[in-house]
Amino acid sequence: MSDYDPVQVSALLPESLARFRDEAVAAFAASSTLDDLAAARHAHAGDRSPIALANREIGALPPQAKADAGKRVNEVRQAITAAFDARRATLERDRDERVLVDEVVDVTLPWDRAPKGGRHPLTMIQELVADVFVAMGYEVAEGPLVETEWHNFDALNMGPDHPARTMHDTIWLDPPSRGVVLRTHTSPIQLRALLDRGAPLYVVGPGRVVRNDPIDATHSAVFHQVEALVVDEGITMAHLRGTIEAFARAVFGEGLKSRMRPSYFPFTEPSAEVDLQCFACKGDGCRICSGEGWIEWGGCGMVHPNVLRASGVDPDRYSGFAFGMGLERLLMFRHGIDDMRHFFEGDVRLTHAFGTEL
Ligand code: FA5
Ligand code: MG
Repeated sequence: MSDYDPVQVSALLPESLARFRDEAVAAFAASSTLDDLAAARHAHAGDRSPIALANREIGALPPQAKADAGKRVNEVRQAITAAFDARRATLERDRDERVLVDEVVDVTLPWDRAPKGGRHPLTMIQELVADVFVAMGYEVAEGPLVETEWHNFDALNMGPDHPARTMHDTIWLDPPSRGVVLRTHTSPIQLRALLDRGAPLYVVGPGRVVRNDPIDATHSAVFHQVEALVVDEGITMAHLRGTIEAFARAVFGEGLKSRMRPSYFPFTEPSAEVDLQCFACKGDGCRICSGEGWIEWGGCGMVHPNVLRASGVDPDRYSGFAFGMGLERLLMFRHGIDDMRHFFEGDVRLTHAFGTEL
């Protein structure tokens, strides 16, 4: 092919080479990431790119045309390489700047970001109540949550068929014939204290209790009470009344209205219940107090002689009073918390607000 004309090799035509260069430059410019740019390089400067294929054609040219074509191809390859290098430098700089911003560490931020949490208000109120009574000369008493039927009922003057038992919807441990219950009130604490320590006795016992009660704004199936028991010579109802008033003043301050209403408990005689004026409606009647204007806080009375006898105390020499107050209700009154369920939902907004000591 002596009459071979390089002009016939279309890939080597100046306008073809210029097009390969322009397409490569445009593809690099259009690459917005380093990955895109690598793909563009493969397409426009790789082994099978138009410029590489054109380069291969040079070998077939007559000697006099080779130098000329080689020079043109080289110029284009250099232009492509320069465009690639420039674009890569730009994209790498962009990436580095972005990383500096995205991954910046602000060393001036506080290092201790773990939220502190608060103590549960029920834990704190049990300690506060214990303190109030210890200051009046009482001892703190405890008892088990898993209690015998005898301590929870029988020794408190509620025999097997006593109608008052049905007032406590009781959780029994299997098998029921064992006579083991989750205590339904804190009153077995007073009994255990009396059995352990005898008279005279001044004890306070906060604790958790369980009843199969339907749950609403003022009732829970698991709740807390505080029991107080005084047995000594010459104890009267006046002591009971004065002690409850002192207790209420210590936890609510002055001005909260309370009333005592005759009631019945098998383990006290006479018995009463203590109501507090509803904190939400101040006596008008609302959803929280079921329209009553008052909410029951607890039960109380003069210790029944049978209870003293069951614990080996001579009722002719000693008399006593006892009371058991609801602690969730105490907190609801104290802080205007309108739903008992808040205590059991584990929301830190409650423990932060009411469980943080200053
Ligand atoms: C008793 O439990 C008696 N043991 C109280 C007592 C002690 C009387 C000593 C005499 C001498 P009662 O069932 O009424 O009584 O409950 C006392 C208080 O516990 C109630 O007034 C209320 O404040 C609280 N309470 C009762 N049931 C619930 C419940 N389901 N959820 C939350 N609090 C409750
Ligand atoms: Mg009651």
